[in-house]
Amino acid sequence: MLCRRAGAAMARTGLRTLFGNNAPVIPRTCGAIDRRFCSRPERTLEGKIALITGAASGIGKATAAKFIANGAKVVIADVNHELGQEAAEELGPDARFTPCDVSKELDVSNAVDFTVSQHGRLDIMFNNAGIACTTPASIVDLDLDRFDRVMAINVRGVVAGIKHASRVMIPNRAGSILCTASVVGILGGMAQLTYSLSKSSVIGIVRSASPELGRHGIRINCISPFAIPTRLVMDEMNHHYTGVGNQRIVDIIHGAGALEGTSCEPIDIANAALYLASDGAKYVSGHNLVVDGGFTVFKSLGFPAPDQVN
Ligand SMILES: NC(=O)c1ccc[n+]([C@@H]2O[C@H](COP(=O)([O-])OP(=O)(O)OC[C@H]3O[C@@H](n4cnc5c(N)ncnc54)[C@H](O)[C@@H]3O)[C@@H](O)[C@H]2O)c1
Repeated sequence: MLCRRAGAAMARTGLRTLFGNNAPVIPRTCGAIDRRFCSRPERTLEGKIALITGAASGIGKATAAKFIANGAKVVIADVNHELGQEAAEELGPDARFTPCDVSKELDVSNAVDFTVSQHGRLDIMFNNAGIACTTPASIVDLDLDRFDRVMAINVRGVVAGIKHASRVMIPNRAGSILCTASVVGILGGMAQLTYSLSKSSVIGIVRSASPELGRHGIRINCISPFAIPTRLVMDEMNHHYTGVGNQRIVDIIHGAGALEGTSCEPIDIANAALYLASDGAKYVSGHNLVVDGGFTVFKSLGFPAPDQVN
């Protein structure tokens, strides 16, 4: 292992190679370098206050646990009271539950006010609640009532979250807003039209809201996860693959990924959320952080191998 002084000297030499005589000056006391590169993991959200919708299970719950482990206090807002209460108890004294149906603006407004009344402010708002949608194969048969319900939660609920979080963040001239989009909002044909459209909208909302919020010092970003066998997805898949065992369905979901040897899990999204919520992402806004193992960046031509062509 390098000693502290040798490490600093190497850093200075490396910078001279890159910048010549214009190399930035690094102080000879190398404590600063060591603290930045060699210290123990920081609790990156120490003292931060977060509100997460849809945090009674899945991605939201994993993110609540991750935020708390990193020093935040978290309010779990969910339409499922029993599961939400259980999640808060499981996550300990830094988690609280508030009932909230994100399709009702008053509920969202109350959840924000509850957070501020409990903790004095709101630093991080994660608009994560969402539902799946089973729609007929053809657009001709589209159920527009179901369409309205999905939009009310997946899109209107996100807009309500942004609106009311901004209401309390703007006076503080700081804050980080996150939203859960999806890979199905990037590529067509990966999910039903209604659900895909709702997630494309989330990506668009984030881009559209970022200029105004940026002028108030508030960052807004979204995360687009690949398929993860959470309750939402398992319910959907069970409906599609009637009578097929859960483990087989999990295998099908994991088998669809593009990155060999691993699969997408709630913790991967929680880690992405931790980064975007933290000061480490202080200059990242309007971004869609795609967590898909590279799935959406390529499409194979499917040409046959040379030895298969006559
Ligand atoms: N699991 C995936 O493959 C996947 C992929 C991309 C995006 N997403 C998105 O991730 C988000 C979280 O889903 P998940 O996969 O963790 O599923 P999940 O079912 O585990 O969690 C969804 C949570 O949202 C809550 N919820 C539903 N309707 C609500 C409402 N009206 N108001 C408040 N809360 C409500 C549910 O009670 C539940 O706790 C959703 O927005 C989903 O669309 C999931």
